[in-house]
Amino acid sequence: MKYRNLGAAGVKVSSLCLGGMTFGEADEKSFMHKVGSDEATAHAVLDRALAAGINFIDTADVYGQDGLSERVLGNWLVARGTRDRIVLATKFRFTMGEGANRSGASRYRITKCCEDSLRRLKTDRIDLYQIHMQDITVPEDETLRALDDLVSAGKVQYIGCSNYAAYRLMNSLWLSKTNSWAKFVTLQAQYSLIVRDLEREHIPLCRTEGLGILPWSPLAGGFLTGKFERGKPPAGDARLGAKPERFARYDSERNWKVLDAVRAVASEVGSTPAAVSLAWLLAKPQVTSVIFGARTIAQLEQNLAGAELELAARHVEILDQASTFELGYPYEFIKNTQASW
Ligand SMILES: NC(=O)c1ccc[n+]([C@@H]2O[C@H](COP(=O)([O-])OP(=O)(O)OC[C@H]3O[C@@H](n4cnc5c(N)ncnc54)[C@H](OP(=O)(O)O)[C@@H]3O)[C@@H](O)[C@H]2O)c1
Repeated sequence: MKYRNLGAAGVKVSSLCLGGMTFGEADEKSFMHKVGSDEATAHAVLDRALAAGINFIDTADVYGQDGLSERVLGNWLVARGTRDRIVLATKFRFTMGEGANRSGASRYRITKCCEDSLRRLKTDRIDLYQIHMQDITVPEDETLRALDDLVSAGKVQYIGCSNYAAYRLMNSLWLSKTNSWAKFVTLQAQYSLIVRDLEREHIPLCRTEGLGILPWSPLAGGFLTGKFERGKPPAGDARLGAKPERFARYDSERNWKVLDAVRAVASEVGSTPAAVSLAWLLAKPQVTSVIFGARTIAQLEQNLAGAELELAARHVEILDQASTFELGYPYEFIKNTQASW
């Protein structure tokens, strides 16, 4: 396992981060709608991930009913005494509970969400506290001041953001800088061989401002593992098989061509499509740590191989070409004159 600085921060994190979205009861009410793992399986996955060198775990208050993922993780941290071996990341912003302030990123709500997460996680500090999505109903300076106070109080070590438009992120960084507040050190965003939209604005922004990218759904929810076939319905016990609209999101000619290229590279390097897809992200300079999901130990083992696989430049180029996408204006216009922007 390799370790890298957490974006603009000095703390070191493993290049793979274990995602906690599947932790908890695998029942109908769960966030994952029956395609999560029960507590014992989640704890076994956490044990194996830690033994393999993963020291970075990501969750959110909304994962699992009533904060179930955080509770499962908190139970593990206490039962195994592992709190100080982990860089612990969670998120706030989406709906929890009832009432007018059940959602959002106001000072009022951030203070409550942080206390609730600390209680569920059975700890006195969150290492990376992330806003799950920007909130345009709240002035960004209110959000940042509240987060800065949590850092000063020692309840939070670093702050990060997720699902931000580039203009809002740039504005946020400028506010933090000019007011000497804690600033976002990472951007958690959807990024994979299937979804590369981040390359238009966010990656150049993070490069110039020093933020690390934490890709989520790096395996496109399982599509890039190669377990699905063109023209065949997905198995119902897989996340993408549980609801037809989920699979339909990926079932396009472009995406099957991407998968063909991933499979070809995997067979050339003697690895799996899952490991190759993770390794492609790890080859991108702005990526700090890739947040992957593993519902079972067998999935985890396959995905861990991604951390050790260093793709040759030729293989990265093949995958870049196969997953090429429409840049649109003005990026295409600029690219005709300069290689990057
Ligand atoms: N910030 C955000 O808005 C946001 C959004 C989404 C996720 N996230 C974070 O990112 C993490 C990862 O997201 P994700 O779960 O969507 O990532 P992912 O790695 O793209 O997908 C994980 C899913 O793919 C399947 N899978 C994984 N490895 C496999 C393997 N080797 N072979 C076969 N199937 C395999 C499993 O689903 P099945 O077994 O059911 O097929 C697993 O639950 C989450 O836990 C969360 O921490 C953040």
